[in-house]
Amino acid sequence: MTSPIALRIPNPHLLKPLLRYCATLCCGLTLTSCASQAPAPQTAQNATPIPQQARIVDPHSYANTDAFITQRIALDLSVDFDRHVLSGSAELTLSRINGGADTLVLDTRDLEISAVETAEREGAYRSTSYSLAQADPILGSALRITMPQQATRVRIYYTTRPQASGLQWLSPAQTAGKQQPFLFTQSQAIHARSWIPLQDTPRVRAAYDARIKTPPGLMAVMSAENPQALSADGEYRFSMPQPIPSYLIALAVGDLRYQAMGQRTAVYAEPSMLAAAAAEFEDTEAMLERCEAIFGPYRWGRYDLLILPPSFPYGGMENPRLTFVTPSVITGDKSLVSLIAHELAHSWSGNLVTNATWNDFWLNEGFTVHLTNRIVEEVFGLDVAQQERAIGASDLKRTLSELEQPRDKTLVPELAGRDPDDNVTDVPYEKGALFLAYLEQQYGRPRFDEFLRGWFDAHAFQSETTADFRAWLDRELLQKTPGVVSAAKIEEWMTSTEMPTDTPWPQSTAFATVDAAREAWLSGSTPLAEMDTAHWSTRQWEYFLNSLPTPLPAAQLAALDERFNLSQTTNRVIAARWFRDAALSQYQPAYPALRKHLNSIGRMLLIEPVYTALAKTPDGLALAEQIYAEARSGYHPIAQTSVEKILAKARAEQAGH
Ligand code: BES
Ligand code: ZN
Repeated sequence: MTSPIALRIPNPHLLKPLLRYCATLCCGLTLTSCASQAPAPQTAQNATPIPQQARIVDPHSYANTDAFITQRIALDLSVDFDRHVLSGSAELTLSRINGGADTLVLDTRDLEISAVETAEREGAYRSTSYSLAQADPILGSALRITMPQQATRVRIYYTTRPQASGLQWLSPAQTAGKQQPFLFTQSQAIHARSWIPLQDTPRVRAAYDARIKTPPGLMAVMSAENPQALSADGEYRFSMPQPIPSYLIALAVGDLRYQAMGQRTAVYAEPSMLAAAAAEFEDTEAMLERCEAIFGPYRWGRYDLLILPPSFPYGGMENPRLTFVTPSVITGDKSLVSLIAHELAHSWSGNLVTNATWNDFWLNEGFTVHLTNRIVEEVFGLDVAQQERAIGASDLKRTLSELEQPRDKTLVPELAGRDPDDNVTDVPYEKGALFLAYLEQQYGRPRFDEFLRGWFDAHAFQSETTADFRAWLDRELLQKTPGVVSAAKIEEWMTSTEMPTDTPWPQSTAFATVDAAREAWLSGSTPLAEMDTAHWSTRQWEYFLNSLPTPLPAAQLAALDERFNLSQTTNRVIAARWFRDAALSQYQPAYPALRKHLNSIGRMLLIEPVYTALAKTPDGLALAEQIYAEARSGYHPIAQTSVEKILAKARAEQAGH
């Protein structure tokens, strides 16, 4: 799996530094672990203690963090829209953990490396030897770099491949404005390695600087301090002074403009989207202020939003200082702004205190869903927050009934040997949030808010495991207020494949209205014409469509479509739920609109359920494959992989029957 396929020594006489073996170590670690760690073993005389990052095994990285830890990254990249590549260099400044180490191992995927150089602290760069291992389908290729004894800096010259899993290159036709191309990155979970050679593990945090060269007329933005206007020559410089994990390094380039919303909040979008986005998300500053009041200071300076083209594979991505957002949440009625609350909340849960490995993903997402519900309740009221909680719970119940691997129904799955993107299910999000809601219910909101704030403050800019959290929970909550929650109860929440019997299932009066309306219609007591949906929110519609029995007779689906024009809705979130129902019921009159839907959006949450529903029958699968062939080039590489997995699984199942 890791055998070298190429050993290139660009300049053999520069190998001399290799021979200068010296045990002097570089100190100055800023990445020390949390205070609760046991004393670290020493590796050599005068060695820096091994920080926490080095001692946790991350099954999704080749990086030898027991020898080196990245402190700073400097990128110098040109954006080539003709060839669909980034090219230039990445410079890593490292701390030596093991003074004797002579090899640095980095993560890469599909990178073309042209040269590698190393340098001592202030010294000049000299080329060094390196080898790129054979690619593993999930992890990519380990890049092994020979490190002379004093070397603490390395510079890698490279070019990305057009199919890089973390990049999407869009033609002008795939943007709102149709005039300029667009590029964006998506590094989470392990895609940063497809555009930067680095230690691609959330255990390691580094500050970064970047120089990005774009064609003139385009704006580049990053998860860093950003420009507010176009650069005349297409060159942009960035700095992210706070240390962040690799999955939060982000870049986008396109026909972008800036519009302020509040003191610290603004939106970047293509010109035609700017005003609608700024209006939809005008409450961002208020959410930021509420979040700070409860969970402590916002430590990242500004909080801006970037509206992506429709192919963006996620709803949102919490890139620090610049959340990336799908345009599908701009509905005109603010009914999906909880997504902004979610990405904002990651500024505490995830970006400030980070899951140490992808097995601990619920520490990022479960916490974030809990924080989101708290903020939404503060800013938009209890009714809206309960709708959020209830739609999450309704999705979780369905997901738990569909997941095949029992371990995937637990908060901490085993992802070694698997793609961490496969664990993006309602379990880490909603089961995680219900666990925290349970603790809040047991200890009371004031006490629990204070507990969470203490967790963020004590572990700021650190990466933590589930075991770290459990130790903290035990010490700060269970022991300090004994007799409320038992250790056995915590164990049950962590390991059970079921939901504990005392799960605090949320109740929503708005959803009770929907239940009543649905029952009245299905039982025949109220005709559809009399169903009063005039004030339904997007969430109520989602819940209604989610809770319809399937398959539903074609006549009933036809009646629904005729009365509410569901196939023609411009709200992609409602459309996705409707087309899923239509596919599960094989309601063919909706298929032309379903096809348009799958061709118009690339957000995985909005396309995967529709493909999955179609693929349940042989005819549906054939149609799904046809549609995918048309739509594929508009999907992000991560979305392509996910749809291909759905279709391959359905093919295998149907062949087996
Ligand atoms: N960080 C996630 C997106 C993500 C997770 C990307 C795992 C790659 C791997 C982001 O914060 C998120 O959860 N997005 C959700 C938003 C929703 C829950 C409000 C999404 O995209 O749907
Ligand atoms: Zn999230």
